[in-house]
Amino acid sequence: MTRSTWLPFAMAALVVASVAHASPPAKLKVGFYKHSCPEAEEIVRNAVRRGLARDPGVGAGLIRMHFHDCFVRGCDSSILINSTPGNRAEKDSVANNPSMRGFDVIDDAKAVLEAHCPRTVSCADVVAFAARDGAYLAGGIEYQVPSGRRDGRVSIEAEVLNNNVPAPTDRLRELIESFKRKGLSADDMVTLSGAHTIGRSHCSSFTQRLYNFSGQLGKTDPSIDPAYAEHLKKRCPWPSSDDQMDPTVVPLDPVTPASFDNQYFKNVLSHKVVLTSDQTLLDSPWTAGIVKFNSAVEKAWQLKFAASMIKMGKIEVLTGDEGEIREKCFVVNPHY
Ligand code: HEM
Ligand SMILES: *[C@@H]1O[C@H](CO)[C@@H](O)[C@H](O)[C@H]1NC(C)=O
Repeated sequence: MTRSTWLPFAMAALVVASVAHASPPAKLKVGFYKHSCPEAEEIVRNAVRRGLARDPGVGAGLIRMHFHDCFVRGCDSSILINSTPGNRAEKDSVANNPSMRGFDVIDDAKAVLEAHCPRTVSCADVVAFAARDGAYLAGGIEYQVPSGRRDGRVSIEAEVLNNNVPAPTDRLRELIESFKRKGLSADDMVTLSGAHTIGRSHCSSFTQRLYNFSGQLGKTDPSIDPAYAEHLKKRCPWPSSDDQMDPTVVPLDPVTPASFDNQYFKNVLSHKVVLTSDQTLLDSPWTAGIVKFNSAVEKAWQLKFAASMIKMGKIEVLTGDEGEIREKCFVVNPHY
C-alpha cells in the first residue's frame, strides 16, 4: 500500500486508541439481566404503561427522574430513598419536591420484579429503563439501555442543588459547566434539553422572568415572545405563583405538549420556552447552531438524544459488588 492509503487507517487506529484510553472500561452492558431475570425490561415497560394509563404525565416525570438521579451521586437511585428522622433525602430537595413524579411507577415495577426475580434487578436500572420507556411511549425514541447498575445507600438533600442539578435560572456558561462536571458535552446538554418537549413546569420556575426580570419589578424578560409572555402571565399570576407550593403548571412545549418530537428546538428558536435555561441555548453561535440542527433534522436529534441518554446513564455508576440491590426502592436494605 502507498503511504496515502495507509494514512487514514493509521489515523483511525490512533483515534480508536485514544478514545479507548480516555473512556473508562465499559461496566454496564445491554441485556445484563438476560439470564438472571429475562423479563426484567418487559416488566418495567408494562409498569410504565400502567402508570401512563393512570396519569399520562408520568412519562415526562420518569425521564426527568433519571436525569436528577444521575446528576447526584451518579445513577444509583439515590433519588428514590425516603427521608428518615435522622436524614433529609434528595427526594425532599426543592428541585424534586413537590414537582418530581413517577415514584409510584418505580414501586409498581419493583414489586413485580421482586415477585419474579427477588433481589436481582437494581432500582437504578429500573429508573434507567423507565426513562427510556417514557420517551418511547411518548413518541417513539427506542434505544437499548446498558444495565448492571447497583443501588447506593446514601441520599442527602443538600447535595442536590450544590453543584449537581442545574437551576432553571442558569445561563449557558453555567449549564455547560454543570454538564461538563458530569462528563457530558455542551452538545449532550443541548440535545438532552430536548426532553423539554413534553411535560410541564410549575409557575415558580419562571415567574421571575415574567414580573421581575433581572431584579426590576414589573419588567418582563424581552427574550420571551411578547404574545407568549402575555399568555403565561394569565396562567401564572404574581405574586402568589412565586410560592413553591403553588400547584399551577404550564406545558413546557406549548405547541405539541405530549409528543416526544423535536418541537422544543423550534420553540427555543421562536422564543416560546418558559425557562431561562432553555432560552439561553441561543446565547452562543455554537449552541444556537446545535439548536437549529436539532430543529431541522428530527431523526438526527432522536439518535443523538438516545446516545446522550446512554452516556448520562453511565455517570458514576456503582457496579459489581459495589452498593446493593435494594429490595424496596424507597428504603436502603436493613443491615443483617
Ligand atoms: C439543562 C438543564 C436543565 C434544567 C435547568 C432543567 C429544569 C427543569 C425544570 C425547572 C422543570 C420544571 C419542573 C416543574 O416545575 O415541575 C423541568 C422539567 C422537566 N425536565 Fe428539565 N431541566 C434541565 C435538563 C433536563 C434534562 C437533561 C432532562 C432529561 C433528559 C430533563 C427532563 C425534563 C422533563 C421530562 C421535564 C418535565 C417533567 C414533568 O412533566 O413532570 N430536563 N426541567
Ligand atoms: C426581584 O429580583 C431580585 C434580584 O433577583 C430579588 O432580590 C428580589 O427578591 C426579587 N423580588 C421579588 C418580589 O421577588
